[in-house]
Amino acid sequence: MTTTSFKSMDESTKEQWDHIVLQTISNQKRVACQIKSMLLYLENVTDGFAVDQLTHSLQTATRAENDGASDEMVAACLVHDIGKAVSVINHPAIAADILKPYVNPDLYYVIFTHQDFQGKYYYGYLGMNPNLRDNYKEESWYQMACEFSDEWDQKSFDPNYPTKSLDYFEALIADVFSKPRY
Ligand SMILES: [Fe+2]
Repeated sequence: MTTTSFKSMDESTKEQWDHIVLQTISNQKRVACQIKSMLLYLENVTDGFAVDQLTHSLQTATRAENDGASDEMVAACLVHDIGKAVSVINHPAIAADILKPYVNPDLYYVIFTHQDFQGKYYYGYLGMNPNLRDNYKEESWYQMACEFSDEWDQKSFDPNYPTKSLDYFEALIADVFSKPRY
């Protein structure tokens, strides 16, 4: 099989695409690697909170794990604010789409909508409706989203909470992002 790839996609062959697919699959470890680097970058993002966003993400995941959450949920907790490395306003959609092939669909919606669930605690201060989570009351994942927000996410700004390290979660990250499952 040739490893010489095309210079223009309209000249590509099946053999070249077979090669690209195999190379892409063999480089899957890049996903976990990039997630770790984006999480590390969150150490630089504080934006007025009492802890930086890496600590907040690790603390959210620590609380979920302490409550017996699944590995996919713990991974979602770690990643839920990762979009803040790029853009705060649309960070839930960034995180949700990174997670989408790796966590069950309900969990995707939990992360996609998590800002509106968190809004219960602060949207009122910003002149917004704090009850936007009510729009999702009929969804199968509503209770899961309430638990994520009320028990783990909104509480995780405590500098004194015994928060586990990124190294502690390294094996879980490697496992959850080792291959697309959904
Ligand atoms: Fe958060």
